[in-house]
Amino acid sequence: MVFCLPGFILVIILLLILKIFQKFSTAWDHSQTCLVGKTAIVTGANTGIGYHTALDFAKRGARVILACRNKEKAEKAKHKIIEQTGNSNVTIGVVDFASLASVRAFVRQIKETEDRLDILVNNAGALSIPNCTTDDGLNLLMQTNYFGPTLLTLLLIDLLKKSTPSRIVNVSSIGGHLPKLDSNDLNAWPRMGIDLFSRGVNYGNSKLCTTLFTNELARRLSGSGVTVNSLHPGFVKTEITRGIPYILKVISDVFLDLFFKSPEEGAQTSIYVAVSKDIEGVTGEYFENCKIAWLPPMSQLARDEKLARKVWDKTEKYINLTAEEKRLL
Ligand SMILES: *[C@@H]1O[C@H](CO)[C@@H](O)[C@H](O)[C@H]1NC(C)=O
Ligand SMILES: *[C@@H]1O[C@H](CO)[C@@H](O)[C@H](O)[C@H]1NC(C)=O
Ligand SMILES: *[C@@H]1O[C@H](CO)[C@@H](O)[C@H](O)[C@H]1NC(C)=O
Ligand SMILES: *[C@@H]1O[C@H](CO)[C@@H](O)[C@H](O)[C@H]1NC(C)=O
Repeated sequence: MVFCLPGFILVIILLLILKIFQKFSTAWDHSQTCLVGKTAIVTGANTGIGYHTALDFAKRGARVILACRNKEKAEKAKHKIIEQTGNSNVTIGVVDFASLASVRAFVRQIKETEDRLDILVNNAGALSIPNCTTDDGLNLLMQTNYFGPTLLTLLLIDLLKKSTPSRIVNVSSIGGHLPKLDSNDLNAWPRMGIDLFSRGVNYGNSKLCTTLFTNELARRLSGSGVTVNSLHPGFVKTEITRGIPYILKVISDVFLDLFFKSPEEGAQTSIYVAVSKDIEGVTGEYFENCKIAWLPPMSQLARDEKLARKVWDKTEKYINLTAEEKRLL
């Protein structure tokens, strides 16, 4: 259908409207905040939004830790950032969010080398992954997008509390508004008939859990000086299409190039939420285009406090948090 001429023209017109909308709605972060003496971790910092976020922090004088899965890519990004900013206080840490042991090893390393943490940007994420189970017995996409980053965040809370005022920034997505979550089994693979749809809903589930957990964490941290906010970066050209079928990837990459935000534009809200003095103390909010945004009505579920507590309790079990670690929260 889409390939007949009128359909094709319609798609192009819609994309042009999207492009124009994005160009006018993209807000740039103009904060003057200096980050000398501060330390930031950015996950998935070797490319895209994460890279531009880390680059910006380095320009502001921060010590920046690039938390990436691939060591070579992280090294490359590190050298590029140092070259562009003249700030050599940039370091890398290898972490694979699909492994709880890897997250724990990364945190151990951080605690050996760092005595403070002012900003944690949970940026890494995957979009489309088939139904697989990790070595930890969890749904691969749920672990990559949710359980792994959650464990990271919880294990770093004591360091963040020591460095208040500190900020946790979560890069989320509006893709998360189509979930079909089984709150009794967060790892259940959603059966949608078509695999691509199942993957989409699974992604939505991971984002819903993230939002629920973030809200609950914001409640638990209220008054501690650690703020937690999430954001939608807009429609951005990133490597997030990595996992999708090849032919779809080729087509979507062309469209992404033409019509979507650049990674630098996409990083603006992350930077704003991480550094802006305008939002000191603001917590548990959702941002878009450098301002607080309303969650669309279809994400009512994300505001459900009872569901949030249930998901929190389940999550603590799935990520195998020890009693000792719970006490530090
Ligand atoms: C690196 O950054 C940290 C934290 O911002 C700071 O304490 C340290 O002095 C910096 N090191 C160098 C070599 O600039
Ligand atoms: C998904 O994977 C799990 C565990 O490997 C399996 O039990 C389940 O049947 C799979 N679901 C579908 C729809 O393929
Ligand atoms: C967002 O933050 C929450 C709570 O701090 C964390 O559990 C969650 O995994 C984060 N999300 C992402 C995508 O990293
Ligand atoms: C959970 O943590 C405990 C204590 O750290 C450990 O003994 C146990 O093996 C862990 N279980 C899993 C499934 O990782």
